[in-house]
Amino acid sequence: MPLETRPLAGKTVLVTGASRGIGRAVAVEMAARGAAAVALVYAASDDAAGEAAAAVRAHGAKAAAYRCSVADFAAVGEAAAQVQADFGGVDILVNNAGITRDSLLLNMSEEDFDAVLNVNLKGAFNMTHHLYRQFARRRSGRIINISSVVGLCGNAGQANYAASKAGLIGFTKSVAKELAARGVTCNAIAPGFICSDMTSTLPEKTRDDIMHDIPAQRFGAPEEVAKLAVFLASDESAYITGQVIGVDGGMAM
Ligand code: NAI
Repeated sequence: MPLETRPLAGKTVLVTGASRGIGRAVAVEMAARGAAAVALVYAASDDAAGEAAAAVRAHGAKAAAYRCSVADFAAVGEAAAQVQADFGGVDILVNNAGITRDSLLLNMSEEDFDAVLNVNLKGAFNMTHHLYRQFARRRSGRIINISSVVGLCGNAGQANYAASKAGLIGFTKSVAKELAARGVTCNAIAPGFICSDMTSTLPEKTRDDIMHDIPAQRFGAPEEVAKLAVFLASDESAYITGQVIGVDGGMAM
């Protein structure tokens, strides 16, 4: 049987951190695979968000960009309400926004710990909380959280980031259990090292060390994460929930 080419036909998608990198790729791929509308939540760059929205529209989907920090509970509530008013609801939520503030634990400031937890973990809580009631009421939906291989394995210099990404896994499983009977699935994707702004500044030596641990011997592309997100967003994944699925060239197995 041929694979469904437009598995997301008619669906409305909300992606956080959608202005660039993995979030942008997810937004565009969802549109390419039939989504009717994509809401792009972004933190700062109006130009990048506008360009990402244009790339979504090029696939025939409606698109609108919403500037708000996912770490701000009240602002996320306003953005979630606006998206529902604009598009009539959200079928697919992708909690993707994330930051790093790396340093060895001894040198890690309280501010750097809190900032990473507030965006990466609390940000997913904020958006999921504000859309929870509509998911439960609609009795269908998909929530996809972008975790990391680092949340599974840990990483020296990333205690804050690893804690946030491991926390996201517990969050994913709990939400999955709460909403499974309502036809809403919640899964986590754990990317390995993916080419994006987040990894482009790594020193040459660090990149070489990382490459040594990747059986596929290359970094991944944002589009390779997006393709799994599309599957997890489709009706074809209805019996998959509470799972953590790696896109990591074999790093964690
Ligand atoms: P990126 O730095 O290119 O993009 C991050 C996005 O999040 C940007 O659009 C940024 O504006 C947005 N963002 C940051 N703080 C925000 C806030 N407070 N409110 C709203 N949006 C905010 O990074 P990349 O690589 O695309 O990462 C996307 C997600 O994938 C992150 O959660 C990251 O932790 C995760 N990830 C990335 C990996 C990689 O190797 N690039 C590996 C594993 C996970």
